[in-house]
Amino acid sequence: MPQPTSKFRLSLLLFQFIALIALAQFAVSSLYAQSHPNPKDLLRQMTVEEKVAQLSQLPGFPIPEFLQQAGNPEDIIRKYGAGSVLWVPEPKQINRLQHIAVDESPHHVPILFGLDVIHGYHTIFPSPIAMASSWDPQLVESAQAVAAREARAGGIAWTFAPMLDIARDARWGRMVEGAGEDPYLGAAIARAQVLGFQGTQLGAPDKVLACAKHFAGYGAADGGRDYDSSYIPEEQMWNTYLVPFKAAADAGVGSFMSAYMDLNDVPASGNRWLLHDVLRDAWKYNGFVVSDASAVHSLITHGFARDGQDAAMKAFSAGLNMDMASGTYFKYLTAEVKAGHIPMKEIDDAVLPILETKIRLGLFEHPYVDEARIPDVLNNPQSQELARTAVQRSVVLLRNEQNALPLNKAQIKSIAVIGPLADAESDVLDMWGAMTKPGPTVSILQGIKNKVGDTVQVEFAHGPNIRRDIPSFFENIPFVPIKEQPKQSPEEKQKAMDDAVDLAKKSDVAIVVLGEIALMSGEAASRSSLKLSGGQEELLEAVVATGKPVVLVLVNGRPLDISWASEHVPAILETWYSGSQAGNGIADILFGDANPAGHLPVSWPHNSAELPLYYNHTLTQAPEDAPGFTSRYWDALSTPLYPFGFGLSYTTFNYDNLQVNRKEAKVGSTLDVAVDVANTGSRAGDAVVQLYIHQRAGSASRPVRQLKGFQRVNLQPGAKQTIHFKLGPDELQYWSPALKKWIVEPEAFDVWAGDNAQAKLHTEFSLTQ
Ligand code: NOJ
Repeated sequence: MPQPTSKFRLSLLLFQFIALIALAQFAVSSLYAQSHPNPKDLLRQMTVEEKVAQLSQLPGFPIPEFLQQAGNPEDIIRKYGAGSVLWVPEPKQINRLQHIAVDESPHHVPILFGLDVIHGYHTIFPSPIAMASSWDPQLVESAQAVAAREARAGGIAWTFAPMLDIARDARWGRMVEGAGEDPYLGAAIARAQVLGFQGTQLGAPDKVLACAKHFAGYGAADGGRDYDSSYIPEEQMWNTYLVPFKAAADAGVGSFMSAYMDLNDVPASGNRWLLHDVLRDAWKYNGFVVSDASAVHSLITHGFARDGQDAAMKAFSAGLNMDMASGTYFKYLTAEVKAGHIPMKEIDDAVLPILETKIRLGLFEHPYVDEARIPDVLNNPQSQELARTAVQRSVVLLRNEQNALPLNKAQIKSIAVIGPLADAESDVLDMWGAMTKPGPTVSILQGIKNKVGDTVQVEFAHGPNIRRDIPSFFENIPFVPIKEQPKQSPEEKQKAMDDAVDLAKKSDVAIVVLGEIALMSGEAASRSSLKLSGGQEELLEAVVATGKPVVLVLVNGRPLDISWASEHVPAILETWYSGSQAGNGIADILFGDANPAGHLPVSWPHNSAELPLYYNHTLTQAPEDAPGFTSRYWDALSTPLYPFGFGLSYTTFNYDNLQVNRKEAKVGSTLDVAVDVANTGSRAGDAVVQLYIHQRAGSASRPVRQLKGFQRVNLQPGAKQTIHFKLGPDELQYWSPALKKWIVEPEAFDVWAGDNAQAKLHTEFSLTQ
């Protein structure tokens, strides 16, 4: 009998191997098919009413307009199921509604529960503008990973974050929810947030579906008034406002939320250019889009849709998959399909990504919350530790004359902690943080007490109460736990002021905590002035007048007018809203157990008259530093009080030896930029090394500077490190309004490196054809 050749034996082996793999694949896929349905099969079985229910997000709390429009959410779930339910923070309630969907609705499709888990669920991290101030994407990712784990344990599989709106006008209340004014930093923070929430692939354990919002241009509201129209030319959309959203899409974000406002006169929630041409056509995005709350119905209010039916049609045909809580899709879309106005294929195309997302998230296999597991996940001490680190890494030291900070507790016997935000708990969580399921919060007063122990006497004086002039609508919502401070008579105010000054007089040092209660920033919280309101400026001046050393700690959601303080208060620390561990993290900085290295993600104006203000504007024909005619005001500077990227440390850094590896290179090349940074002080600390470029000419005017790289690096005293950045097509391209396309141009470029947008260390290079 002839023996098989070795070649034959090899082929046989290979064949057996391939067959084995195919068998294994088959086994895995049938197992998979058993645990959840095939979405296309499901769609074939579903009625149009059920499909429209999947395109609807129902409110988890009573909204009279929704009830009128669409009926009782529970009845809808029972009869047809629901795409999503909004704002059910209670796990018991989640399980109850989920049982109705899974046990009673015709095709047992689980509900995707969504909540605003913006900077924490139980462990509340610093608010987004603070996290961006850390210039530390890894930290941002880790924090959102904790938020995801906690939220998912509580039954929330979808968060309405990250908010990616570029904000260049501090009057806009929602600046606090984003990463500031810059598209490059915004994109880096966007990527980190998506990875933190979702992991590298949708459906990873302990992760949630993220939602890139508010698509797009919401931060450019006219006059900084929330919800007001945005007028943004296409070049600014592509080069600035869309950049963080593109980064989120590239990082795999599973959903988008359309914004409320009119964008160039077409409401974002009915804007086909945005939702279709940009998102689907240009970016090939295949997740789904939800509207902002009631935004589909609001298309009527905008004067864009005639009535509910027209609103549903306009939003749907623009490319909006899911109606958040307005009931308009639910009320009208079925009839529109039955009347032949919408082909069933289009409905199926809109529902498919929603079903696919639920499948990927594992909702079919695990629709319910395991209530027994929740305490373990929420009470993890490591999460609190990370929150404290996040505070230390995000606060920004704005001024520190003669090393007023850090305080030396061995040399201090008594501290006056003064101000209407010093003992605040909910306020330092910020609105969203206070509205999920926050654990205990350490106020700044408590953090200082924890730090100094019994050796130093710490006393507190509140000072006059602060309030909004026009109350916030959020105060009327029963489950919003943050409130205004009570009204006071002029006598009560005066007494509060006197008590504070008396306390300062008898103490060694005064730590004055001023700013904005949480209701003063965030949604529907725009303001015309950035002044320290409600007598805070007077309080500060009176305490400084005592002659005692004063440290100003700011708690706020946007830059404030601190022109006086910037000349008269030796130490100013911007802490934003810093979450559960606010007090401990801030005390770590105040007393030198941590070295501040936060840097501003926004240009800090002197006052609101300078707004909008951003560093990456174009040169104009009369730059502000030119002799003669200039673009500045005649009664004020047009430069910021503190530039974008600015932040001090308890040590000092020197930047040197900025080099580009080639002085001339072809368009399309990638250059290496290197710069040395040295710690020239006596303490270890972090430098935030920033790289800026300017293209000197082109088919369009280019900004004076643009951030194109950054790195936060820890250096021991005396240590020096060479930091490398790459400048390739991604960094050098821009969308040219003249050519209507993305382009890298053969031009000369300036390069600067340093620790803020006014860095002086300079070099240059040219690109050739
Ligand atoms: C309205 C806000 O604009 C949006 O940011 C939020 O996610 C939704 N409400 C849901 O709470």
